Amino acid sequence: MAESIPVLLYREGEAIDAIGAVCSHAGGPLEDGSFADGCVECPWHNSVFDLRDGHVVHGPATFDEPHYQVRIQDGQIEVRNRLLDLDADVILVDEAPHRENGRTATDEILKEETAVDGE
Ligand code: FES
Repeated sequence: MAESIPVLLYREGEAIDAIGAVCSHAGGPLEDGSFADGCVECPWHNSVFDLRDGHVVHGPATFDEPHYQVRIQDGQIEVRNRLLDLDADVILVDEAPHRENGRTATDEILKEETAVDGE
């Protein structure tokens, strides 16, 4: 059985981090947050999460974001749920949306609805 999980992908240079895209505090859209020093700040109540492992840097959130393993295989980004050991569908790097909001080409923030195989 497959389910969709919103995943926030953050690329800086060659490194790509993936954490949950829905704020663990009250569901804020982390892809619309601000990004600095390897962290994302939620646009709703300013919780800050570390993009490298999803932990709460400061609240009001008290629960960490889920963190996902990421690898690039044949030009595609593959995301895997580390805790549940589930394989996710592939996200193509070249098809990633580009934003025109002042972020640099190497600091892309992507949100993907990633289908995760639950079996
Ligand atoms: S919803 Fe993100 S800090 Fe409240």
